[in-house]
Amino acid sequence: MEIIKTVRDMQNFSESLRLRGKRIAFVPTMGYFHNGHLELMKEGKKRSDCLVTSIYVNPTQFGPGEDLDKYPRDFERDERLSRDVGVDVIFYPPNSQMYPENYQTYVNVENVTDNLCGLTRPVHFRGVATVCAKLFNIVKPHVTIFGRKDFQQLVVIKRMVTDLNMDIEVVGMPTVRESDGLAMSSRNAYLKEDERESALSLSRSLRLAGSLYDQGQCDAGVIIKKVKDFIGKHPGTRIDYVKICDVETMKDVERLERKSVLALAVWVGAPRLIDNYVFGENK
Ligand code: PAJ
Repeated sequence: MEIIKTVRDMQNFSESLRLRGKRIAFVPTMGYFHNGHLELMKEGKKRSDCLVTSIYVNPTQFGPGEDLDKYPRDFERDERLSRDVGVDVIFYPPNSQMYPENYQTYVNVENVTDNLCGLTRPVHFRGVATVCAKLFNIVKPHVTIFGRKDFQQLVVIKRMVTDLNMDIEVVGMPTVRESDGLAMSSRNAYLKEDERESALSLSRSLRLAGSLYDQGQCDAGVIIKKVKDFIGKHPGTRIDYVKICDVETMKDVERLERKSVLALAVWVGAPRLIDNYVFGENK
């Protein structure tokens, strides 16, 4: 396994693979790996001759007052786990490689970023789209793997790849959960013991919503209210949003007629956690 830290070296590496007709899979991450990350890597491994992952805590996707400085990091552990799943290259650039002095270009994906996390984290998706566009130009993958845990992020990346004619296949993978249902997240590391219990209300509320839908409830407002009431009963929770949206446009829906996703973001103590459920899909 190689660790590459400069843009030039990564581009040269990928170019030489491409010249030899090799297929490159790419899993972008911010590190502090858990099984969610590792599942994306295993999928990438299956789909390619060379699996590249990046570890980069991207400053442009964090707003003022968010957890950029505190974001958990453990490069040695990530390196070990990467080796175990068969990663071929870790791209691990410093900020000076990604955003050198005089940097001034950003990618803005419009309508699908208007709702959900785009509402409460105004610079977030501009940062995500920008860094992913840059990473795609650096790693030059044929296929890239993202998790559906960050549902809106996946929609944004697919939109950007289509709109900017990037010749990359984007694959979405199911959310990996702890055995009690909590969606795996690097930010779970912030949870104190009692908060860990309250954090379970997120996945449980999604199950509640799923069973209401399965019993015939199609009124989004009714489902949202039940989910909010359920989460609100758990100590230390503070809801950012609970919404039901069209899976393609990310616009709120009133009735569950087209394919819809329930997406939520909730602070549990310090961390803000997200989760989602696509109605009609078994999880
Ligand atoms: P990060 O939060 O490290 O996530 C990296 C990838 O892992 C994303 O595609 C995310 O959706 C996926 N992932 C996280 N938790 C998961 C889970 N429980 N199950 C399945 N997949 C999961 O998302 C980012 O980093 C950044 O925004 C990034 C795309 C790297 C841009 O900086």
